[in-house]
Parts: sequence; structure tokens; C-alpha cells
Amino acid sequence: MDRVSAPALPTARPMRPTDVHRVVAIEEEAFTSPWRADTFHTLLDRPGAELWVLEAPGDGVIGYSVLWCILDQGELANIAIAPGYRGKGHGARLLAKVLEIARSRGVESLYLEVRISNTKAAELYRGFGFTQVGIRKRYYDSPTEDAILMVARL
Ligand SMILES: CC(C)(COP(=O)(O)OP(=O)(O)OC[C@H]1O[C@@H](n2cnc3c(N)ncnc32)[C@H](O)[C@@H]1OP(=O)(O)O)[C@@H](O)C(=O)NCCC(=O)NCCS
Repeated sequence: MDRVSAPALPTARPMRPTDVHRVVAIEEEAFTSPWRADTFHTLLDRPGAELWVLEAPGDGVIGYSVLWCILDQGELANIAIAPGYRGKGHGARLLAKVLEIARSRGVESLYLEVRISNTKAAELYRGFGFTQVGIRKRYYDSPTEDAILMVARL
């Protein structure tokens, strides 16, 4: 009997300067005030910043994350999965990697902000142990909206 192998899963690896073009394309589809290429390039040179991508065999980069680490505190500053790849567990896979990196860098409290209307992302974060610790009023533009501040104790 022929064996049918399952498609290879996407894997996480550190972001490279050559990824930025694709990352910005995903960013522009994900957010109304997207980060520019310059921002990603600057962060790639910053010691406390961890920029990772999720790469699918044959499809290239399908998502990315940006984490800052300062001593025992971290902030998940950005995470996105390309629209056609959402809802398939890739966001969870990437977030699991972020938590692993944060722990390995000695982060004990990992913070993030999420739009109040972004229930999908908030559900993902809750599933990884993040809890709400505050509200930042009018934190976002386009449209103006409050942020939920969440933290996970690692
Ligand atoms: C948020 C985002 C990264 C999630 O990525 P994803 O690949 O779609 O997420 P997953 O498929 O791994 O889903 C993980 C969990 O998220 C939650 N989730 C996913 N889709 C959901 C939906 N339609 N409704 C509610 N919860 C949902 C669930 O808890 C899910 O767990 P489950 O599969 O066990 O039910 C992705 O939607 C995205 O890029 N959004 C645009 C950018 C963004 O909002 N980034 C976050 C800014 S704070």
C-alpha cells in the first residue's frame, strides 16, 4: 500500500533582511496603521528585539512576530499570519515559539496590547495563559479604539 505523507508543517526561524518585503505585505493586509519596512530593518539590528517568521514549505513566509525583551520583562509588539493561512493553527504555532524564546531570554512577564474588537487574537492569547490586567484608553488610531493590556507569567 502506498504511504501518503502529511504536508510538512511551517517552521519558525529568525527573520532576515530579505524577508522584510514579504513581511510588510502581510503587515499591510493585517493592520490599518502598518509598520514600514524601515521599522523592521531597524529592529533587526537591535539586540533586545527578536523577530521571527513562520515559513511554509513551498509557500515561503506566511507570518511573523516581533518580541522585545528587557531584563525579565517582554512585550509581544507584533504578530500576524497572512490572511489565506489564518484559522489553521499557525498563529498558535508562532505564539508558542515566541513564548519559548521569551523564556530562554529570562522573561518572566510577557505583555501585549490588543484592540478590544480583536476577539480572535484575544482568544488566542487567553489560550496561552495571557490575562487582562488593564485597559489603555484610545490607544489605537484608524479607527480610534481602546487596547486591552494582557500579561502572561512565564
Ligand atoms: C491573530 C492571528 C495572528 C491568529 O492567527 P491564526 O493562525 O488565525 O490563529 P490560529 O489558527 O492558530 O488560532 C488559534 C486560536 O485563536 C482563536 N481563534 C482563531 N480563529 C478564531 C475565530 N474565528 N474566532 C474566535 N477565536 C479564534 C482560537 O482560540 C484558536 O484556538 P483553537 O484553534 O483551538 O480554537 C491572525 O488572525 C492575524 O494575523 N490577525 C491579523 C493581525 C492581528 O490581529 N494580530 C494580533 C494583533 S494584537
